[in-house]
Amino acid sequence: MSDRYCVFGHPIGHSKSPQIHTAFAVQSGDDMEYTAIEAPRDDFAGAWRDFVAAGGRGANVTVPFKEEAFRLCEVLSPRARRAGAVNTLVLGKDGRTFGDTTDGIGLVRDLKHHGVTLEGARVLVLGAGGAVRGVIEPLLAEGPCELMIANRTAEKATGLAADFAALNDGRTRLHGGGFDAVAGSFDVVINGTSASLGGDLPPLPDDLFAPGATAYDMMYGAKPTVFLNWAVERGARGVDGLGMLVEQAAESFYQWRQRRPDTAPVRDLLRQALAASG
Ligand code: ATR
Repeated sequence: MSDRYCVFGHPIGHSKSPQIHTAFAVQSGDDMEYTAIEAPRDDFAGAWRDFVAAGGRGANVTVPFKEEAFRLCEVLSPRARRAGAVNTLVLGKDGRTFGDTTDGIGLVRDLKHHGVTLEGARVLVLGAGGAVRGVIEPLLAEGPCELMIANRTAEKATGLAADFAALNDGRTRLHGGGFDAVAGSFDVVINGTSASLGGDLPPLPDDLFAPGATAYDMMYGAKPTVFLNWAVERGARGVDGLGMLVEQAAESFYQWRQRRPDTAPVRDLLRQALAASG
């Protein structure tokens, strides 16, 4: 029997993870099967248990189960413990469930792939929800000179900055606040709010971008998000989150198979499919 993996979510119909992991498996020649499973909202733990009983070896976890997955893990990576969420489950040889979060490393790898230097850069992150909590640690590890978290609810941003202060090695001015506290220009602006889903834009100053700045939206779609359109009109380079999706998947694949897939051809494949659908 092939090794079994899956992605859990609710809903899950539009997930690209099966396509991504199947492409990775073809690349590596691994005999594995990867499916999408819609877990019941009130029994994620039961869905994981059933999957393991049927031979499942590991899984990705997406909305709305990342916090519940975190709670059921018997062993956690330090970065998952700090993020408070898990997007990767691995069934250990001893039968215990290990949890990791690969979203943040996926973001940092994709930024690097696009030629963005984070060390010494001024970085602004918009939003302070679960998605942002998962990316702060790897961003901080790159040593930006400033890392500001700005959010509609200012206290959540200041709280998040405080939560990660102990990981700051002194290179970074790490702080949080409301959108009205955003001042000066930034080299990298990352949208981690869910505002684009509703076509909304956080209220931000027009002179937000330093020369050569990159605007990154953790969302993606067939067309650029409102945030990216807004940013490009103000002189920034716009990058969407499709590459982050592929990179986080590659890191999950590594956790399961101890092999690093080549992400570039898979990203191209997805980009073409997305363009054809738009
Ligand atoms: P996720 O897991 O995707 O991060 P979340 O934890 O619900 O989801 O967080 C959503 C984030 O988007 C929050 O930072 C939220 O701001 P608040 O903390 O003030 O609620 C932000 N957000 C959602 N809709 C928004 C909007 N229309 N404008 C600005 N920010 C918005």
